[in-house]
Amino acid sequence: MRVIIHPDYQSTSEWVANHIASRIRSHGNGSRHFVLGLPTGSSPVGTYKELVRLHREEGLSFKNVVTFNMDEYVGLARTHPESYWTFMHRELFDHIDIPKEQVNILDGNAADLEAECDRYETKIREVGGIDLFLGGVGIDGHIAFNEPGSSLTSRTRIKTLTTDTRIANARFFDHDMERVPQRALTVGVGTVMDAREVVVIVNGHKKARALAAIVQGSVNHLWTASALQLHKRAIIACDEAACEELTVGVYRYFKDIETP
Ligand code: GLP
Repeated sequence: MRVIIHPDYQSTSEWVANHIASRIRSHGNGSRHFVLGLPTGSSPVGTYKELVRLHREEGLSFKNVVTFNMDEYVGLARTHPESYWTFMHRELFDHIDIPKEQVNILDGNAADLEAECDRYETKIREVGGIDLFLGGVGIDGHIAFNEPGSSLTSRTRIKTLTTDTRIANARFFDHDMERVPQRALTVGVGTVMDAREVVVIVNGHKKARALAAIVQGSVNHLWTASALQLHKRAIIACDEAACEELTVGVYRYFKDIETP
């Protein structure tokens, strides 16, 4: 695992966007698309802004990119302002040149939710797997909606959200936890781990405990993002504020080896 510490959220976002852009560009325009896994939440917003800028000002094209979003609420209309479908179009897809048919988002209103999850896994396999999965983490160290106690080999499925997650996400629903859906469809930890590369954005003081657990704790299903310690190519892109709970030794170690 690489831990790349940036001074603040803006520089973290720019680094992540440039990293994704360089992967897309070096993939070229061969027969296979570049397959990108994407998260929602506040963590990737700065990265999406920067990707849009790279598209508008520096010619970054998404014509050869296929995306798969990590998760979606169950039972929220697609057009609801807080559905992940709406979020992704507002923050990214409406501003870049990705062909609409290359965007994949789980349908939380499907008649058969289990079949929808299986369809998603099949489609990921059919396009040749995910090249780069971008993610964020919850304050309890969850990745996608893989809440504490999720199997570290889990696949796309229906999950009940914890009270902690519903409280954290209440900010998007007029601070009313009761309005946050109780269930979501989410890719599994195993689905994320199958990606050729995983990049996770961790920023702000409120993520400090999670970052410490993920980076210097043991691999543990209570902090599902800790599974990334077993990934061959995982990068944590974080800011200084998120590092407050790292031991001085661990902090210095990553600063030292990642300094060009
Ligand atoms: C939700 C999402 C996750 C996201 C997490 C953190 O639980 N399902 O994908 O990483 O929130 O959100 P934020 O980035 O807003 O802190």
